[in-house]
Amino acid sequence: MNDLIPLVNKLQDVFSTIGSDTIDLPQIIVVGSQSSGKSSVLENIVQRDFLPRGNGIVTRRPLVLQLINVQNTEESKAEEYGEFLHAADQKFTDFNEIRREIEAETARVAGQNKGISRSPINLKIYSPNVLNLTLVDLPGLTKIPIGDQPTDIEKQTRSLIYEYISKPNSIILAVSPANVDLVNSESLKLAKQVDQEGKRTIGVLTKLDLMDAGTNALEILTGRVLPLKLGFIGVVNRSQQDIVGNKPMVEALKAEAEFFKHHPAYKNISSRCGTPFLAKTLNNILMNHIRDRLPDIKTRINSLITQTSHELLSYGDPKLEGKSNRGALVLKLLTKFANDFVSSIDGTASDI
Ligand code: GDP
Ligand code: NA
Ligand code: MG
Repeated sequence: MNDLIPLVNKLQDVFSTIGSDTIDLPQIIVVGSQSSGKSSVLENIVQRDFLPRGNGIVTRRPLVLQLINVQNTEESKAEEYGEFLHAADQKFTDFNEIRREIEAETARVAGQNKGISRSPINLKIYSPNVLNLTLVDLPGLTKIPIGDQPTDIEKQTRSLIYEYISKPNSIILAVSPANVDLVNSESLKLAKQVDQEGKRTIGVLTKLDLMDAGTNALEILTGRVLPLKLGFIGVVNRSQQDIVGNKPMVEALKAEAEFFKHHPAYKNISSRCGTPFLAKTLNNILMNHIRDRLPDIKTRINSLITQTSHELLSYGDPKLEGKSNRGALVLKLLTKFANDFVSSIDGTASDI
C-alpha cells in the first residue's frame, strides 16, 4: 500500500507540469506562525539540513516536498539526493546546494524583496531515512510587514494558506509552539475555520523544552484541552544555538528521544512523542487518506480525460494549434497516468 504515495506524487508532477490544479490530491499541509518551528519539523523528518533560514519570511513560495524512501541493499548504501521538478535532469547530492537552489528559485519567481508567490517549488528527496510522505511547506503567518514587504502581506499569506487547507483532501499539520498559549495559536485558529470538527487536522507542539519551569503540555498532548481526531504530537527540535553550532541531526534526534524518556510529565507517553513517531503517524494518515479517496480520484481523472478528449476534438487538426498541443500533452500524461493508477490499485488491492 506504500506504493500509493509515489503514485500520487507522480500525479502531482503531472498537474504541476501542465499547470493545472483541477484535482484535489491528498497531501499534508504544514501551517503555523512565523518561527513556530515549521522548517525545523520538516528538517527533522528528513533528517537533513536543507531549508533556507533567516529572519523574516524565508519561505515565500509553497514548497511541495515529496519524500521517497529508497532502501539500502546488502551491496550498497542507497544514495541520498534531491531533485527539483524545474531542473529535472540535475541530481543534488549536496544538501547545501538544495538550500541554495530553493533560495534562487524563490527569488526568481517571487522577486528579491519579501513578497510571496503562489507558484509552488516541487522538490523530491530520495533517502533511506525517510518514509514516503508528501508535505507542503507554506509561508508562515506574519502580522507586521517588515522591510519592503507589501503592506497586505498578512492577507496574501492567509489567502494562500486558506487555499491549500480548505481543500477537503488536505491534511492540516498545525504547528504551535508550546511556549505560547494554545488559545493564541494561529495555525489552530485557521485549521478550525476549514475543519470545524477537527477531523483532518493533526496538531504538532514544538518547543516543549522551552516551557516555563513547572509547566508542561501533558493535557494538550493527551487530547484533554482540544480534541483533534488525529491527535497532538509533541516534538523537540534544535534550538537556534544548536543550529549555529551545527549540531548534527542524529544527535538532535537522540537528544529529543532522551528528553521525552526522562521527562517526569512525558515519560509515560514517550513512545507517542517525538519526530520519528510523528513521521510514522503522518505516513499512516496519508496512506489511509489516499486509500479512502482513491475511488473519487479515479472518477475525477476519468472525467478529466473525457473532457480533454472532447476539447481536443473541437480544435480540429492537432498540428495547427498551440492550444491543442497542450491539450494533447495533457491527454497523453493523464491517460498514461490513469493506466498506471488503475494497475497499481489492482496491484495493492490485497492491502486495501
Ligand atoms: P519556522 O519559521 O516556523 O519555519 O520556524 P523555524 O523552524 O525556522 O524555527 C524558528 C526558531 O525556533 C529557530 O531558531 C529554531 O532553532 C527554534 N526552534 C524550533 N523548534 C524548536 C524547539 O522545539 N526547541 C527549541 N529550543 N527551539 C526551537
Ligand atoms: Na501557530
Ligand atoms: Mg520556515
